[in-house]
Amino acid sequence: MNYTEDVVVRLPGLARSYTFLHISDAHIAYARDCDSDAEKEFAAKQTERWKLHAVAPIDAFTSFLSDAETLSPKPDAVFMAGDCTDYYSESNAIFMQKMLQKQSIEYLYVPGNHEGGSYTSHIPDIRACYPLYAAVMQNAPAFWVRDFGAFLVVGVDDSDRNITDGQLCKMQRVTEDGRPILLLLHIPLCTPANREQIMQVWGPSFMLGAEDSTKNAQRFSELVKAENSHVAAIFAGHLHFAHTGEFAPGRMQYVSAPLFSGFIRHITVTSDMAGTED
Ligand SMILES: [Fe+2]
Repeated sequence: MNYTEDVVVRLPGLARSYTFLHISDAHIAYARDCDSDAEKEFAAKQTERWKLHAVAPIDAFTSFLSDAETLSPKPDAVFMAGDCTDYYSESNAIFMQKMLQKQSIEYLYVPGNHEGGSYTSHIPDIRACYPLYAAVMQNAPAFWVRDFGAFLVVGVDDSDRNITDGQLCKMQRVTEDGRPILLLLHIPLCTPANREQIMQVWGPSFMLGAEDSTKNAQRFSELVKAENSHVAAIFAGHLHFAHTGEFAPGRMQYVSAPLFSGFIRHITVTSDMAGTED
């Protein structure tokens, strides 16, 4: 498998190193035989929209899955940072569920705004998709925690640029745990390192915690950036371009470009200080 980027996250006191892959924005559009002609046409249209170099998004995704299965040693998990299906539909969700449940590797998945239906189908409540995706999102799409022992991977649905009272409360609690956190989001945190570029390409609606954000989104952003938050790294998507930059001194935020463009980030989480300067 060819990795677009290879990054190292250093955490203290690990008994071994861990490896993860980070993908986002696969934008799969899938229709089943039982779907209406209109649904099939829409899936075909969206497939054309995101097709790059004559490779359909669904083919880019399935070849990623099969390549990942051949890796030795296997990664500890794959981070999926949202928009991995292109719009709210039962067929898209069932396809994703069937594909992920066949894999021997663990997939850690947060919703994007496309899974939630704010795009194309204009479903106003992002949580409407939760029952469809619960099985592949730790049965808790809004906020989940995967415990790796020495550290936690925490997934938060920020796909409508808001953070609910419940999510904020859970984030406060999990940062009190004391163990380092790898945070998986769809929409990246607004930082001095990414703000200007995102404003030029998209505008403030592509960042969490920008000046026009809700109070809770700003509180969440402050909590994550705080020195005592234990969030060691952030992994996100949504932008359709890759970004690597600090969200706090010495702590990095990594944003993936779309999987349909071939972007795959390889992450090593280690206590090994080899290769670092004094
Ligand atoms: Fe998105």
